[in-house]
Amino acid sequence: MKAKELKPGVYWVGAIDWNVRDFHGYETPRGTTYNAYLIVDEQIVLVDTVKKTHSAELLQRISSVVDPSRIDLIVANHVEMDHSGSLPEVLAAAPKARVIASPNGEAGLKKHFHQDWPMKAVRTGESLKIGRRTLQFVQVPFVHWPDSMVTYIPEDRILLPNDAFGQHYASANLFDDQNSFGVVQFEAAKYYANIVMPYGPQVAKALDAIAGLDIDLVGPSHGVVWRSHFKDILADYRKWCAGESRNEAVVVYDTMWGSTEAMAKAVASVFEQRGIPVTMRSLKHTHASDVITDVMTARYVALGCPVLNLSMLPTVAGFLAYVKGLKPVRKRGLVFGSYGWDGRAIQEAEGILKGIGWEFPVPAQSVKWVPNSDDLGKLAASLEPLFG
Ligand code: FEO
Repeated sequence: MKAKELKPGVYWVGAIDWNVRDFHGYETPRGTTYNAYLIVDEQIVLVDTVKKTHSAELLQRISSVVDPSRIDLIVANHVEMDHSGSLPEVLAAAPKARVIASPNGEAGLKKHFHQDWPMKAVRTGESLKIGRRTLQFVQVPFVHWPDSMVTYIPEDRILLPNDAFGQHYASANLFDDQNSFGVVQFEAAKYYANIVMPYGPQVAKALDAIAGLDIDLVGPSHGVVWRSHFKDILADYRKWCAGESRNEAVVVYDTMWGSTEAMAKAVASVFEQRGIPVTMRSLKHTHASDVITDVMTARYVALGCPVLNLSMLPTVAGFLAYVKGLKPVRKRGLVFGSYGWDGRAIQEAEGILKGIGWEFPVPAQSVKWVPNSDDLGKLAASLEPLFG
């Protein structure tokens, strides 16, 4: 396991996790990488580490360039343990190293590891001269944790923004242009939807903070290094953080005996008749982390919620908990569903989405037991105000 050189003296020394399929509830069918970067100058600097399970791979890749005992500084851009998890192993191998983090990062690392490591806190605007190169630090709070920070190397025009611009995508090819751009762009969108989306205003500020930087390479902490398509992904981030959507619809639903599914099809046909591309997502068949990616970019979101034991069907309740946390914005919503003897859970579902600011031009639509063609016709006719 060897390092890969990004520019003379700057190396990728991360780990590839080919097999991870669940990332705290986010389904990752393409695995992921934990990217760490080694800078060899008068001082030797490691930027971020990897998940604890992959510490041996990290140390092996570092050792292909320098003896880890020579590391002087470890920059911890982010406390989350997919990036800090190997700090104990690295510090054991690099006893003279000091850890550099934002003030919240320093506090967070102490609360995670309960160790008295030599540490130095840095703030936006501070820099460290490490020889020919300088490390400049910019705090980007809530992109996506309070501690988050990016590191910029002006002499090499390299930005190391940690989770920002990342993708859960394991590949033997390190650079964006060595992979299918469509696949990488999709994984970047899915990553944004599942990890970064609640913090749109903070992302906009972070994009402004890096806007003036002269950038050749962007090395996020997951997935590929951007060298050809950074402008494209930056443009996507501008749209996503502003909540811009396409004139498209997603119908998300589950069903017990086919009634709510029949309603879902009637709703989908209304969008289709209006020339609005519509995607149907059954929560029995599509993971919430994929559904939320569709939701992020669609203008209209219709949710089909059956009632079980006077409550929302648990798959729908779980999905709503996920949506409530991720807070996609600027949506026109619709909730519908079938019930047996009490349909109030359908209104409860609508209430949750109203609570995150979605517009509901049409009140929740429900049908008792099994809808007939009249019921489905009435449901379709009721949608008119959605398009007003
Ligand atoms: Fe990739 Fe927030 O950790």
